[in-house]
Amino acid sequence: MLSIIRLRETESTNNYLKELIASQRNVLAEGTVVFADFQTKGRGQSGNFWESEDGKNILASVYFSPSHIDPKNQFVISQLVSLALIDVLQEEISELSIKWPNDIYWKDKKLAGILIENELLGDRILHSIIGIGLNVNQLQFSSSCPNPVSLANITGKQYDREGLLHRLLERLYLFYMKVLRDEMNNLEEDYFFHLFRKEGFHLFERHDEQFLARIVNIQSNGQLVLQTQKGQLLKCAFKEVRFVI
Ligand code: BTN
Repeated sequence: MLSIIRLRETESTNNYLKELIASQRNVLAEGTVVFADFQTKGRGQSGNFWESEDGKNILASVYFSPSHIDPKNQFVISQLVSLALIDVLQEEISELSIKWPNDIYWKDKKLAGILIENELLGDRILHSIIGIGLNVNQLQFSSSCPNPVSLANITGKQYDREGLLHRLLERLYLFYMKVLRDEMNNLEEDYFFHLFRKEGFHLFERHDEQFLARIVNIQSNGQLVLQTQKGQLLKCAFKEVRFVI
């Protein structure tokens, strides 16, 4: 099932996995996981740095080869990973949500980030590298990320990272298998149900302009559909729009 490569330190678990795939001539067992205590060049979305104190958090990358998923539907990977995280974290805390496209929030703070890197070949997804950064035991954050939070910040407890990682990987694998078998019937609904700020009008920013809008839905290609107060519908790709928090 899942085999874990345990590292003390690496540049980035996503990069490590990418190099491993190349060194294995593109053939790597599905479910290979790289788990590190520390990353020297941890990567976030949009080229940002992912801050994580040594030995405190979950820094992991999981390898899948989802050749059955049509690249047009690759957003299902984001959805299933976000939902697996929510499912496990709900066993510890409440008031969790998914900030589109795949940040895990507790109230209005960021608890986990996901960086999915898919490599396509023609009409197939050849490799999917799923990078997960979950703040677990870190108590103080220094970086530019404006609103980080950890499980320990929320509950005052310290967690066994390996135990938590195993629970997370199990759920991830289960959800992935269900998607492959077409058994995740409510994936889109569940994702929408957990969406951050899915009710009411909120402030968004697009092309340097701020406006109030409400989330109408998420398209199967992952685009966020907003409705402005004047009733105008806007379909937004990732990075085209941001929540003003
Ligand atoms: C985000 O910006 O929200 C995504 C953060 C993803 C961070 C994780 S930590 C493990 C994996 N390796 C990386 O370099 N990034 C991801």
